[in-house]
Formats: sequence, structure tokens, C-alpha cells
Amino acid sequence: MAEKKLSGAGLRGQVAGKTALSTVGKSGSGLTYRGYDVKELAEKCQFEEVAYLILKGKLPNATELTEYKTKLKTMRALPAALKLVLEQIPKSAHPMDVMRTGCSMLGNLEMETDFSEQEDKADRLLAAFPSIICYWYRFSHDGVKIETATDDDSIGAHFLHMLHGKKPSELHEKVMHVSLILYAEHEFNASTFTARVCASTLSDLHSCITGAIGSLRGPLHGGANEAAMEMIQRWNSADDAEEGIMTMLKNKDKIMGFGHAIYSESDPRNEIIKLWSEKLAEEVGDTVLYPVSVRCEEIMWREKKLFCNADFFHASAYNFMGIPTPLFTPIFVMSRVTGWAGHVFEQRADNRIIRPSAEYTGEELRSVEPIESRG
Ligand code: COA
Repeated sequence: MAEKKLSGAGLRGQVAGKTALSTVGKSGSGLTYRGYDVKELAEKCQFEEVAYLILKGKLPNATELTEYKTKLKTMRALPAALKLVLEQIPKSAHPMDVMRTGCSMLGNLEMETDFSEQEDKADRLLAAFPSIICYWYRFSHDGVKIETATDDDSIGAHFLHMLHGKKPSELHEKVMHVSLILYAEHEFNASTFTARVCASTLSDLHSCITGAIGSLRGPLHGGANEAAMEMIQRWNSADDAEEGIMTMLKNKDKIMGFGHAIYSESDPRNEIIKLWSEKLAEEVGDTVLYPVSVRCEEIMWREKKLFCNADFFHASAYNFMGIPTPLFTPIFVMSRVTGWAGHVFEQRADNRIIRPSAEYTGEELRSVEPIESRG
């Protein structure tokens, strides 16, 4: 039977629930978290302030922020049983699968037995994700068992410190704050919707977040920054990139890091991360990746009126900070866990199990043929 294209394919444009967490394409520069423009948050705040805003409903004052950061620091150490599991995962594994397993294992060891614990469980995941990915990465790649209970001031610095074995520069710590803020929340995207569907069954937080990680893994969603990196690395100059993109467009290939399901003219996060990528390019003396990225942006707009989404300039920015490409999407998890958890809390506070209907495209009602007469 020929496949019929559904009118509302991908649930595009349909309101599937309520949220007070964010707006996409509605006000300010195009993305707001609890009424604050992401542009202003990225300029003035640390990521921990934004995590607090999303998870606890308001921006923290100075005392609350200090207390929150202290709390998160105390939650960075990993249980021995989790470390043992991470040590079994091969070097060849996909880091998003490591995040998924790490989250799920933590759910076995520190099960959420009562929803009154939900904020502490979310804070624990926020604090533990950088430890999980770096512990596995450094063990499988460098054969070292790193100490994850560092005293770094921020989540971004904690991550870079564990990854590189030394504290990051001020610039790199700042870029991590910006990046984590930009990725923190984005309304009813695929992974968040996954988390909400899971929450609507009254499942535990670890299951909701584990499912969301699985959704984020795909190249049409979070995996786009890795795919963009693989693409821009192929080219040695902006002219090479132009030729390459034109060929890809002729072949009707999807160009990763471009286009968006909701934004129609620009992604507000791109302008912000692009500026930081440019600063980092200057710092490392880059003459290839950044110009290649800029040319891709120009060609895609000229040829297709498609614009960079948040992922495109994240690729070069992360690369300039020495972050291996397979770890790009796990950084997205380290940030988006705040949005996911915020949505789980909202779903629980006003829940009805999510159970849409399907447009049936199969056979009419028929009888079961005797087995000997089936083709
Ligand atoms: N490269 C080339 N063409 C693209 C494109 C891209 N990145 N994104 C969209 N298009 C084209 C589509 O092929 C389609 O053309 P058609 O009408 O001739 O078939 C048209 O633009 C509309 O795009 P569509 O795929 O319907 O948009 P969508 O809302 O279903 O998908 C994305 C949105 C984000 C999934 C899509 O733009 C994409 O796959 N982008 C690349 C992956 C990516 O960067 N994802 C991260 C998102 S934050």
C-alpha cells in the first residue's frame, strides 16, 4: 500500500500542551525562558543562574546562587557502581549512549521514589552528567580514572577541567556559560516532548531523562552539531566550502546545522554563539574553520534562504576549545537536562496521560486465512 502523507505530519504547528517555561519564535529576540530574553540571559548570567530559573521558577539572588553552586559541587562525585559500569563501556561507543546508560544506571542506584524529591534528583543529574561523560571518556581513551569531585566554580569549567586535565581559561569558561544557556530549554522539541510523554505515565525522572537523551541523539535534533563539524572539517578554504555546499545542494543533501522546524528567518541563538566562535577563532589563530563556516552560512542563505540554527557555529566554537566532536551532543544533554526536568515538573503538576490518536492507513477489516492458503 502506498504511504499516505499525513496532513499534520510531525505534529507541526499543533499545540500539544501548556508550558510557562519558554517561548520560541514569539517574543524578544525569538527565544525566552520564563519571560527573559535568551540574548540578555546569555549576556548577563551564568549557566547556574539560568538552571535555577528553569528548575526553581526565579532568578536566584547572590546568596541563593552561591548556595546553589555549592550544592551542585557536592553532587559531582559518582558512585563506585556507576564508575564500574562506565569502565565496561568500550572506547568505540557513542558518547550519547554513555550518557543514556549513565543516567539509567544512576536511576537504579538513586531511584526517585517520591516526586517530592524531584528537584534534588534533577540537580543531581545536572551536577553528575559532566562527571559521567568525562569519567568514561578519560578512562576509555587515556586509561585514567579521573577525580570528578572538583571544586571548579561552574558546570562548564568542571567539564573542561576533567576533559583536559587542567582548569580552563576565563574565555573558555565564559563560552561554556553562554553555550549551556543557549541549549537549556526550547519548548516542545522532540526530546522534551519525549520526556513529557514519559512523565505523563507518572514514571520516574531518570526514565524521562533517559528517553529524552535517546531522542536528542538523532542527527535531525541534537546530533546536528557533530554532523556540522564533520562537514566543515572536510574543507580547506571558504572556496572549497562553496563548491562542496553547491554540490550537496545539487544532490539534495540535507546540510546539518541549517533550518529549523519553528524559526522561519533566523535562530536567535546563532547570532550569539557565532560571535563567541569568532572570538575563539581569533584566540587560536584559525584561518580555515571560521571562514568556512561563514561561507556556508552565506551560500545557504543565498541559495535556499536557509539560516544557521544553534548547532552550526557551536561546532567550530567547541572545536576551538579542544572538545572532541563526539562529545558535542553530550554537552547539549548537560544543559538541556534543566529544560527536560522543568517540563517533567510541569507535566506532573497538571497531568493527563498523553495519548493521541492515529490516522489509520491500513487494510479494511478482514478474516484470518487458513495458514495453508496464505501467500
Ligand atoms: N539542508 C537542505 N535543505 C533543507 C534543510 C537543510 N538543513 N532544512 C530544510 N531543508 C529543506 C527541506 O528539504 C524542505 O525542502 P522541500 O520542501 O523541497 O522538501 C524544506 O527545506 C522545508 O524543510 P523541512 O524538512 O520540511 O523542515 P522541517 O521543519 O521538517 O525540519 C529540520 C526541520 C531542523 C529537521 C530540518 O531543517 C533539518 O533536517 N535540518 C538539518 C538538521 C539540523 O540542523 N537539526 C538541528 C535542528 S535545531
